[in-house]
Amino acid sequence: TTPAVATIASLSQHEGQTVTLRGWLYNLRASGKLLFPIFRDGTGTIQGIVPKAAVPEAVFETLKSLTLESSLSVTGKVRADSRAPSGYELDVEDVEVIQRVPDETPFPIQLKEAGVDFLMEHRHLWLRTPRQSAILRVRATIMRAAAEYFDTNGFIRTDPPILTPNACEGTSELFEMDYFDDDKAYLTQSGQLYIEATALALGKVYSFGPTFRAEKSKTRRHLTEFWMIEPEVAYAGLDDIMDLAEAFITHIVSRVLESHRADLKVIGRDVTKLEPILTAQAAPEPGAPGLASETWDRGATTAKFPRLSYDEAHAMLEKAFAEGKLENPHQYGDDFGSPDETYISSQFDRPVMVHRYPAAIKAFYMQPDPTDPSKALCVDVLAPEGYGEIIGGSQRVDSYDLLKSRIEEHNLPLAAFQWYLDLRKYGSVPHAGFGMGIERVVAWLCGLDHVRETIPFARTLNRIYP
Ligand code: 4AD
Ligand code: MG
Repeated sequence: TTPAVATIASLSQHEGQTVTLRGWLYNLRASGKLLFPIFRDGTGTIQGIVPKAAVPEAVFETLKSLTLESSLSVTGKVRADSRAPSGYELDVEDVEVIQRVPDETPFPIQLKEAGVDFLMEHRHLWLRTPRQSAILRVRATIMRAAAEYFDTNGFIRTDPPILTPNACEGTSELFEMDYFDDDKAYLTQSGQLYIEATALALGKVYSFGPTFRAEKSKTRRHLTEFWMIEPEVAYAGLDDIMDLAEAFITHIVSRVLESHRADLKVIGRDVTKLEPILTAQAAPEPGAPGLASETWDRGATTAKFPRLSYDEAHAMLEKAFAEGKLENPHQYGDDFGSPDETYISSQFDRPVMVHRYPAAIKAFYMQPDPTDPSKALCVDVLAPEGYGEIIGGSQRVDSYDLLKSRIEEHNLPLAAFQWYLDLRKYGSVPHAGFGMGIERVVAWLCGLDHVRETIPFARTLNRIYP
């Protein structure tokens, strides 16, 4: 009888049986008359044992000289071994090479460290290494958990167009293209304007897709193409979406910790840094040990994530600068720079929500705070450990006249926004939402120092190959 075809991840169901694995040769070590090939199949890796005396000579000779990343089908008996990372080893009986990597062109990604440029140039092959595969598995779970949260909480997925006639997040970062004869089109920066329309049709909606920004900055947080998930809720205000963001993030972290402990270990992530997010009952009291700030507002008493106004965050930065903990002072009225965000987020063991930024530095569509119209009813969620902003959101302007004057003040073309203004003419209601960048969350949860490893093929200022 032909042995069953199995995957490495499912070997616990095949202990003691002879199975066939279909994959690639990941590594090969020889010690006299013993070979130790490591096979990978996408679901994991397993070490094979090949004693010269125990296998047909052709099998031994084939494996002995096999080049790394050659594709193969290997048959052997699954043996439990507590010392093995996967818990199992394979006593090899037979091997069939599908394609042998030519000796003249060995697999370019060696197990030793290679430079980042070289790795990015070979991203199509770099993806095969265990760390990169583990990151992509975690990414897939983050995306699934994010969509699952909204799908199971009454949100309707309504995906917006990718080709748009208008700018959502400012005109300086638009990718422009010709759209037939006389028209220009832009790649979307955010689906928000469109899901405001679907929210007024369906109540609670979300979108999930690629978004584009011609970011001219080379930073470890910016891609020119990234995936954003955006909920939008009719009759919701700023506090509602802060509660939503908290529950949403908690759900994602819990799904990742539930099924990716082994992957996070391969990646080298210290998971104890993520656990407070799940065990937290309520945000610690102001001034609690380990928290530098005595000033932040706890917000709703059930809130698990600290909520800090822009003014409170500014005061925290001023104090830090005075104490020599920050190199540069933060100018009141300016956005937070990345050292500022890093400092603020490092004061807490879980994400922190900074709300009510000056309206002047935020987007045209944000509702002013009725108690101080110079501030916007907006929130940025900063991830801990210096990962910076993962979510940006706000309550939206719901008055026709105010929105129209905002569009004019921002020198945006009124004609392209007429449909958006219509939403304030036909049954306008308070509404709010946010956007979360998937890659920022992958970087944070996996503990990566650059977003280039968070997406299969990163698009950045300098790279559009492969
Ligand atoms: O803060 P942003 O610009 O907000 C919006 O686009 C709103 N229209 C969303 C909404 O309210 N529906 O972007 C939202 C998130 C950021 O917090 C960040 O996580 C991510 O998108 N992001 C980027 N991720 C990677 N590379 C970039 N260049 C990014 N720009 C924003
Ligand atoms: Mg933002």
